Amino acid sequence: MDILLKGGHVVDPATDLDSTADIFIKGEKVADVGKNLKATGAKMIDCKGKIVLPGLIDMHTHLRQPGREDEETFITGGRAALKGGFTSVLCMANTNPPVDNKGVVEYIYAESAKADLANIYTVGAVTKGLEGKELTEIGQIFEAGAKALSDDGRPIMDAELMRRALEYTKMFGLPIISHCEDLNLSRNGVMNEGFISTKLGLKGVPRAAEIVMVMRDIELAQLTLSRVHIAHVSTKESVELIRQAKKKKIGVTCETCPHYFILTEEAVSGFNTSAKVNPPLRTKEDAEAIKKGLADGTIDAIATDHAPHTEEEKDIEFDLAASGMIGLETALPLVYMELVIKGVLKWSEAAERMSLNPAKILGLSGKGSLKPGSDADVTVFDPEANWVVEAKSLESKSKNTPFIGKKLNGAAELVIVGGKIKFEGGAV
Ligand code: DOR
Ligand code: ZN
Repeated sequence: MDILLKGGHVVDPATDLDSTADIFIKGEKVADVGKNLKATGAKMIDCKGKIVLPGLIDMHTHLRQPGREDEETFITGGRAALKGGFTSVLCMANTNPPVDNKGVVEYIYAESAKADLANIYTVGAVTKGLEGKELTEIGQIFEAGAKALSDDGRPIMDAELMRRALEYTKMFGLPIISHCEDLNLSRNGVMNEGFISTKLGLKGVPRAAEIVMVMRDIELAQLTLSRVHIAHVSTKESVELIRQAKKKKIGVTCETCPHYFILTEEAVSGFNTSAKVNPPLRTKEDAEAIKKGLADGTIDAIATDHAPHTEEEKDIEFDLAASGMIGLETALPLVYMELVIKGVLKWSEAAERMSLNPAKILGLSGKGSLKPGSDADVTVFDPEANWVVEAKSLESKSKNTPFIGKKLNGAAELVIVGGKIKFEGGAV
């Protein structure tokens, strides 16, 4: 059925649109955007007072299928994505088995299509078994449909191997999403290294563990004239390095996640394992620098690093607990509250960081914009909604978020994927 979205505040950074408009969706595509559109026979939806965004794209999600379906699946993760306003997600390769050959890439596309919720794309691993030793068959993985390559969860410690990976991916125009962590520096660390780690008696991860790898990857991107995308930026120094590299036109892009600009290492006090994440939460100064980086465009994207873990993996000693937090269902309200309301980003910039730029970085044609001819992936956001994050109401199979109990402003109200309503009025 065709759909007419009436009278919402439409934000489309690709066309500099930021005003009241209607959107006519015909079949799977956006057919028209403008004032006072008429469409006989179309389902009309009143969007007055709502923000209408190009469907959000999370370029860093762990969906755990295959292998850890007790943590998340294409169905539960797809539902969580929709509830959070995401129409597309890119899932990481650290599954079991990992996405290190074309068979697993094909499995992911076939199985996730059956879920028929949000669009699911996958990255392929850079190295076989994510072991950092031998490159995967990058050409085959690309042909099977991987949108980027990454060993995320682990860094590629061997700089020469990273160089070769960048040379190969360049041939296919694929970015490498780099998890920047020098394992020799981070060894056994479980939180940010500093005063608080000392006080808690926990082994720290120095900020340098990230910084030196960001430096290295920028250097390698320059050497190979290839594209590197730095995942989950957590330190102010990384932001500055990337800022300078962009000035030199080096092929580097990056993302951060809401927890890195909202939380600090203090969230770990009381040995709160829901705040254990890798890279670790840093300091107030870092969070401020990340916001500046988002505001000036140094940071291209806001991703979730949605990392589901079971209670058994989290409800244990801090040292032993798994790293990661879920984020699909809270990211958009957090961006609204912490960045848009507080004047760090305009809505158009938020849409750029959460939709247009991920689409560009991953080469997802037809996505990231609402211009006529685009895929009809639309997120309608209600800024007036108020809700409290509660474990029992989360769609994600895992409940590991430090934002449980937090009052949030704003929620996705309507999510359209490929012209079909997938989420409406709080329900998938
Ligand atoms: O905290 C994290 N969790 N960081 C990563 O890089 C991986 C992720 C996971 O897969 O759980
Ligand atoms: Zn990572």
